Amino acid sequence: MSEAEAPRIRVTFVSNDGKQVEAAAGGSLLRISIREKGGIPFKCGGGHCGTCRCRFEAGLEHASAVTAKERKHLTEEEFAAGWRMACQTFVNGDASISWPPKPAQGTAA
Ligand code: FES
Repeated sequence: MSEAEAPRIRVTFVSNDGKQVEAAAGGSLLRISIREKGGIPFKCGGGHCGTCRCRFEAGLEHASAVTAKERKHLTEEEFAAGWRMACQTFVNGDASISWPPKPAQGTAA
């Protein structure tokens, strides 16, 4: 199915003042965020750096299966609490996403 035919989903970027966007179902969370200026932090886009860790406040049931790359950065407890890596997670339904604030300069992360 092409992206144009895919059903639309609504993604809420909780940590970006609750910004809501519509996107084609089945896209990666990071790709949706970049395209729609959702604001999820990222660096590599390839599952290596761990920068894109974010949390499903709602809609975790619409996320793709956890990948091996995600397991390098997140624990089972974090998965259970809704944490995922945006560049490794594809969404096929509505979701609300938050992420940690950038650490203040001069303090440990
Ligand atoms: S952006 Fe680097 S792991 Fe997702």
